Amino acid sequence: MLPTRTLGTTGPRVSALGLGCMGMSALYGAADRAESIATVHAALDAGVTLLDTGDFYGMGHNELLINEALRTAPAAARERALTSVKFGALRTVEGGFGGVDGRPAAIRNFLAYSLQRLGTDHVDIYRLARLDPDVPVEETVGALAELVEAGHIRHIGLSEVGADTLRRAAAVAPIADLQIEYSLISRGIEEKILPTARELGIGITAYGVLSRGLISGHFARDRELAPGDFRGASPRFQGANLDRNLDLVDRLRAVAEAKGVTVAQTAIAWVLAQGPRHGADIVPLVGARTRERLTEALGAVDVPLDAADLAAIEAAVPAGAAAGARYAEGQMALLDSER
Ligand SMILES: NC(=O)c1ccc[n+]([C@@H]2O[C@H](COP(=O)([O-])OP(=O)(O)OC[C@H]3O[C@@H](n4cnc5c(N)ncnc54)[C@H](OP(=O)(O)O)[C@@H]3O)[C@@H](O)[C@H]2O)c1
Repeated sequence: MLPTRTLGTTGPRVSALGLGCMGMSALYGAADRAESIATVHAALDAGVTLLDTGDFYGMGHNELLINEALRTAPAAARERALTSVKFGALRTVEGGFGGVDGRPAAIRNFLAYSLQRLGTDHVDIYRLARLDPDVPVEETVGALAELVEAGHIRHIGLSEVGADTLRRAAAVAPIADLQIEYSLISRGIEEKILPTARELGIGITAYGVLSRGLISGHFARDRELAPGDFRGASPRFQGANLDRNLDLVDRLRAVAEAKGVTVAQTAIAWVLAQGPRHGADIVPLVGARTRERLTEALGAVDVPLDAADLAAIEAAVPAGAAAGARYAEGQMALLDSER
């Protein structure tokens, strides 16, 4: 079984790797439903206890998929599973994004629908996907604290917020974890956000640890992306930026091969190794959509990295080496964490 880690000082104990289910419903091109469910089952069977989703991933599609996967899983695995759900990102009929809503009344409405779609009576960690610029974080967190009190959610999380917002939120109620992008090529949190989370006893669930497949070792220069694939508009996947970033992957591959492991395992193991280094647990969310990718990702927990390994990895992919921002301009503007 997988080792476990605790999310902050007040959060739950979860598997050292969580399964991010987004790509099973949205943003990375078509996914196979039966294989997605088999992947969730395989993850639970291997000891993954944390399933991450958002109500806006395929406009409810992802929650319904998780519902089906949990309903058809063995009872013991279902009982161990913890759900982490994001809300607040508004969608349009055309499939676009239409802003953020963190108002208390909207939160209660979002949760009512999520519980129905998930087929559960509570969510384990519930979080606003992006800070709503029109609603003070104290109001949003205050409403979430009432939902904890009522037993509808167990813990409060945050997503992509900066250090000041973390501090304001934590003054209202205990925050279990901050979900934020963190990888070998997205290291922005190290300067201020990570030390603040650590000081406040807030755990980190890291997403994009493979930079959406870019540093997985499986992304080819000539890969055709389906319309609507996030990567089609991501600066890191464009033209010369992509070339530069895949050169970094080649350098990482040399380090991985010398250790007899894969590129993806090295990138995930690097994030796992940052927890103890920063004195706080970090739980990477892996976005596997197939059992094959899942098996590879889970193998990362058996890749111990010593100081020489970490130095070799950082020499291959130095901080700040990636070309291109992690989101396109309009989406960057929504990130409190980048202010
Ligand atoms: N809070 C937020 O703002 C936010 C934002 C984004 C995501 N998330 C959460 O974080 C989760 C993970 O994010 P992500 O999907 O961007 O992360 P990721 O793990 O960086 O990228 C996942 C992609 O990498 C590719 N890949 C290649 N080898 C892999 C392997 N061995 N294991 C897993 N994936 C491999 C997969 O593409 P192929 O399937 O094509 O091989 C997959 O679609 C999401 O599912 C979601 O729950 C949160």
